Amino acid sequence: MPPRRNDAQLDLSPDEMHKLGREVIEWAISYRLKLADLPALQRAKHADLAAKFSESLPSGPSDPNVVLRRVIDDALPFMGRADHPRYFAFVPGPANFVGIAADMLVSAANVFAGTWLEGSGPGAIELQTIAWLAQLAGMPATAGGLFTSGGSMANLTALHAARECKLAAPDRQRAVVYCSDQTHSSIGRGLRILGFLPKQVREIETGEDFAIDLGQFEAGVAADRAAGRLPFCLISNAGTTNTGAVDPLERLGDVCDREGLWHHVDGALGAGAILSQRGRRLLRGLSRADSFSVDPHKWMFQPYVCGCVVVRDKAQLQRAFSNVPDYMEDADAVGSETNFWEYGPELTRPFRALKLWMSLQVFGADAFGAAIERGFELAEVAERAVSKLSGWRVCSRASMGVVTFRYQPATMTDADADRRNRVAARALTESGYAAVLTTRLRGRIVVRMCTLNPRTTDADIVETVARLDSLIRDT
Ligand SMILES: Cc1ncc(COP(=O)(O)O)c(C=O)c1O
Repeated sequence: MPPRRNDAQLDLSPDEMHKLGREVIEWAISYRLKLADLPALQRAKHADLAAKFSESLPSGPSDPNVVLRRVIDDALPFMGRADHPRYFAFVPGPANFVGIAADMLVSAANVFAGTWLEGSGPGAIELQTIAWLAQLAGMPATAGGLFTSGGSMANLTALHAARECKLAAPDRQRAVVYCSDQTHSSIGRGLRILGFLPKQVREIETGEDFAIDLGQFEAGVAADRAAGRLPFCLISNAGTTNTGAVDPLERLGDVCDREGLWHHVDGALGAGAILSQRGRRLLRGLSRADSFSVDPHKWMFQPYVCGCVVVRDKAQLQRAFSNVPDYMEDADAVGSETNFWEYGPELTRPFRALKLWMSLQVFGADAFGAAIERGFELAEVAERAVSKLSGWRVCSRASMGVVTFRYQPATMTDADADRRNRVAARALTESGYAAVLTTRLRGRIVVRMCTLNPRTTDADIVETVARLDSLIRDT
């Protein structure tokens, strides 16, 4: 008799495992093949979903494939498809299938990637993957880091290291951090979690290009010093979320060196571009940073979640985070073995590096470079398409795969233009054809497209812009 399912041990029978596993894989592949024909984003009302999912806790068993079907039919249709070729909202996540398969493997092996004792094989791959990122950024051999859930945690991890390395406890009250008025909200939140007060955070005004104005930064540091405060850290951007602006990393690095500031570069959106020649050129100053974050689940084409922080001197990261409780003493790491839990806030952590490592092995770094270059180009295609239309103005030129624009014919008031740009973008997104949303620049609403998906065609971009144009004229 074939082995039976054992519910009391939470075990499926081999047949059931095959059947469930096969259906998951088959679904994953067919989903991927038909992705471009699905809505880029689809939202359902809570009441409709609650009608499907409100139920009492099931006390008895069910057929796993019936349960799976419910998820596939009733939940998964209603989501943003960040890897859809016409998903241009927020920051796309154009995952690749090798990364997806790697994630399945990691779950199946149930890897604990917190200690070398429990995850030496995975640890070796994580170390190598981080070494590649550090080398691409031009960092020295002392550099190291770890994979995180995303950019928010990568930034928080780096900022904690900066504070621990630069500030003695009595100096913390008078410490000042600098960032730009375009800095991602995860930085403000991270600083709040770390206990910094709003009065300790200076938002430097950006110039017309939405990049940090060096003079303003230097003046701010001088003023704070004159007032007896202690400038200690700058957070700059390797691609802002709003416009893809890159701060002048090299010159900012000079000032940070001169002033003894920790220089963290938030590269969650843009640092993935170090895999391309154009990206490395634009981000040359990254090599000078004390730390940077990068999100492989954005411009390195990995499924969620996959962030990474790299610190110039990994010993600083270890000093900032290490504490060894009694019950972990047997898990000590010898020599160059690495206990990743001593380098960040997580003890239990999954093997997030595998998906990037496997995808780089399968496709090669040159293919990644070409895919990133395509993201740069697609934003330029969008910029050109908008420039040809009457009533539209490009508000920030294509930069790191981001472009923003606004419809406002000469006679239209600012308030009316704000409303119409927002309504048109939302209407296009609701239609499912493409996901395009807005942001605010200098107080005014602009349409924003982020074009990181190498599977997007020029025609996708041109048709998206054309539909926006016709929708806005109808609003
Ligand atoms: C520049 C920048 N920093 C940080 C983040 C936060 O990253 P995550 O959502 O992976 O936590 C984002 C997200 O879009 C970002 O664009």
